[in-house]
Amino acid sequence: MIEPYPPPSEIGDILVTTDELRTRVEELGAEIAADLGGRTPLLVGVLKGSVIFIADLMRAIVGPVEIDFMAVSSYGDATESSGVVKIVKDLDGGVAGRDVILVEDIIDSGLTMAYLVDYLSGQGPASLRTCSLLVREGRTAPGVHLDYVGFELPPAFVVGYGLDVGQRYRNLPYIATYSPSDPSIDVDVVEDAGGAKV
Ligand code: PRP
Repeated sequence: MIEPYPPPSEIGDILVTTDELRTRVEELGAEIAADLGGRTPLLVGVLKGSVIFIADLMRAIVGPVEIDFMAVSSYGDATESSGVVKIVKDLDGGVAGRDVILVEDIIDSGLTMAYLVDYLSGQGPASLRTCSLLVREGRTAPGVHLDYVGFELPPAFVVGYGLDVGQRYRNLPYIATYSPSDPSIDVDVVEDAGGAKV
């Protein structure tokens, strides 16, 4: 027997539907294209969570658009508070003179975005804008202006549309709350494995 996917016991409320995602991403793409006024944006995605979002966002931008990716990892709990992250994969190309849009799936503490803005702004981009599909209500990245935000969500552990728990559920076409089928699983521990709490 084929088990249902995702297991209904693990996926809770759908907080952002597929239609809502499509509509909002279209709006963000149009906004970015208008703001760039014909210049070619370089979308910089932060692996892995941003892959679904950036794939849709780039197709929502009418006109030339380029993409590049970075991967970062935190130094664990100490890093959470310090905002220091390790760059695991740097950009393939440079950002000097480019109109850069830094694309995240989620702002949680905001420390990753703050670190990357500082890192990229030091490399002489013509402009640097920030874009996150999701932001925890009331949160921002410390010292960073968020130019484009898809949705603000209440505190809840969420998965789908790029966001994972233990690398699973990134392929769900919506954003939903996650509740472990085994209540003994500590969601905060699972979160460290790759999920996100908003
Ligand atoms: C998540 C998310 C952001 C970051 C946000 O990545 O994709 O990059 O955490 O957290 P912050 O605002 O507290 O810095 P994660 O480390 O889960 O990796 P992933 O993108 O590969 O899932």
